[in-house]
Amino acid sequence: MSEVSQKENRGNEEARPVDNHFVFADSHIHYDDPKFDQDRDSLLKAVYEAGCHAVINCATDLKSCEKTLKLMEKYPFVYGAMGVHPHDVKGLTVDDLEEIFAYATSHPKVVAIGEIGLDYHYDFSPRDMQQDFFCEQCELAIELEKPVIVHSREAVQDTFDIVSEYAQADLTGVIHSYTGNLEMAEKYVDMGFYLGIGGMLTFPDVKKILRTVKEIPLTSLLLETDGPYLAPVPNRGKRNDSRNIPFVAQKIAELKEISVEEVYRVTNANMEKLFGIKVR
Ligand code: NI
Repeated sequence: MSEVSQKENRGNEEARPVDNHFVFADSHIHYDDPKFDQDRDSLLKAVYEAGCHAVINCATDLKSCEKTLKLMEKYPFVYGAMGVHPHDVKGLTVDDLEEIFAYATSHPKVVAIGEIGLDYHYDFSPRDMQQDFFCEQCELAIELEKPVIVHSREAVQDTFDIVSEYAQADLTGVIHSYTGNLEMAEKYVDMGFYLGIGGMLTFPDVKKILRTVKEIPLTSLLLETDGPYLAPVPNRGKRNDSRNIPFVAQKIAELKEISVEEVYRVTNANMEKLFGIKVR
C-alpha cells in the first residue's frame, strides 16, 4: 500500500490516542446493544488489546440481562450489572423483580444492580413507575450487598432524594454520566457515592462538568464510555467503545494537572473498592 492510500485509510478510521501503554477500565458500556452485532467479537478483542482490561456491561431490560450474562461467560474481562433502565420499566410487573433477582445472583461476575434510575427527559415510562422500580431495585441492591449504577436525566432532586434515603441503609454506587452541579456532587461523594465521567467531558459548553471534575477528588471518580453513545471528541457522533476511554482520562489529567498514569492508577483502584474488580 502506498503512503498516500495509507493516509487516506487512516482518515476514515476513528482517532486513537498514541499511547496505549496503560491498563484501564470502562465502568459503563452496553456491548449487548444491536449496534455491536456486526463485529462484537473482533471489537472486544481490540478493546482488550488497547489496554481496557475490565468493562462493566450494564443491562437495560430483561433481554439485555440475558445478553449480559452471555458476554460475562464468554469474555474474562467483561463484568455485568443487572437491572432495568427507567425507559424500560413501563412493561414490568412485580413478578419481574424476581427475574432481576435471579439474574443478579446468576454469576459471580455480576458486580452491580444497574442501569437503574429516573429519566424525566424522555418519560418513556410513567414517572410513578420509574420511582417505584428504582426504589425496588435499590432495595434489591441492599439485600444483595451490591452497589447500584444510577441513570438520572432531568430528575436531579428526585434521584438525590431516593439515593440519599437508601444511602442511610448503606447503599453505595455510582451516578453515571454525572451532569449535575458541584454542590450536589459533593453531597453524593459525602454519602460514599462515585461519579461516572465520560465523553461529555470533552464536549464544548460543559462548564458544570468541568468544575465538578476539577474539584471532586479523583478517589471518587470512575471512567466510563456509555457506548455505543456519547463518544468523546475527536470521535464525537461515531459509535462509542471502550477504546475511547483514554480521551476522557487525558481530559481529566489536564483539568487536575496530573499525569494520565495517575488518573488510571486511582480510577482502577476505585473499580476495586466499589465493584471488587482488580484491573490489571
Ligand atoms: Ni448507559
